[in-house]
Amino acid sequence: MSTISIAIQKGGSGKTTTTMNLAAALQQMGNKILLIDLDPQANLTQALGFLDEPNPTIYEMLRDASMGEIPDINKAILQAGEMDLIPAALDLATAELELVSVYGREKLLTKLLAPIKKQYDYIFIDCPPAIGMLTVNALVASDYVLMPLQAEYLPLKGVHAFMQTFRKIRNQLNENLNVLGFVLTKYNQRKNMNKSILKRLQDDYGNKVFETRIRENIALATAQEKGVDIYRHDKTSNGAIDYLKLANEFLIKIE
Ligand SMILES: Nc1ncnc2c1ncn2[C@@H]1O[C@H](COP(=O)(O)OP(=O)(O)O)[C@@H](O)[C@H]1O
Ligand SMILES: [Mg+2]
Repeated sequence: MSTISIAIQKGGSGKTTTTMNLAAALQQMGNKILLIDLDPQANLTQALGFLDEPNPTIYEMLRDASMGEIPDINKAILQAGEMDLIPAALDLATAELELVSVYGREKLLTKLLAPIKKQYDYIFIDCPPAIGMLTVNALVASDYVLMPLQAEYLPLKGVHAFMQTFRKIRNQLNENLNVLGFVLTKYNQRKNMNKSILKRLQDDYGNKVFETRIRENIALATAQEKGVDIYRHDKTSNGAIDYLKLANEFLIKIE
């Protein structure tokens, strides 16, 4: 089994879309999946159809863990179709501040997941668009980090900053953490900017850049709004095809 953080400190990069649809593709191949929504925006929770704030969420679990007890994480697991989900709600935003002064604050999520890790083939953590305590907790609990990027100029600067954090965490907190790769999202081959960003990314990070690119596809946004993954919305869409291709490349890279 492996735990994968989907992270980059910029909103709108395709983190949530990639988390749910890559996971859905892997689920269809027969893998047992747990999704963790670690973003206070709770986009993943909503995108999986949970519109009323669920309770408990990952926030209650982290809060209890920060007070020294390890709560039963199973109480926070919801069924999202064929996948399991630990949801988030807006109150998770307060965790960012509350955790700062807690002893062992970087390892709370690792501790929470320890009892259930073995039940899953893949655990995906959808991270918030910032490098704070929540993202650090995700990276410390993970074997891999996967970084979705929109093929524009600015994200490339963000990538270098994010990689510094990655190296710090690897050196100080989790030597098992590896870069799985970068995935370009909302890709449009006709845009020159997209092509030149792809080339620069490949120059800097070589084979860490996924061959599969997720094309711009409105069906992905529509599915998210409907509260279902792309395979339940439109199996024949480019989005469905691209995430299936990504899942195949994922399986080769993760071995
Ligand atoms: N390949 C794509 N084509 C078109 N729209 C996309 C694509 N990927 C994501 N989106 C849309 O872009 C917005 C931001 O994506 P999201 O996955 O929520 O980013 P993040 O989680 O990094 O903030 C969402 O409305 C989503 O539906
Ligand atoms: Mg998101």
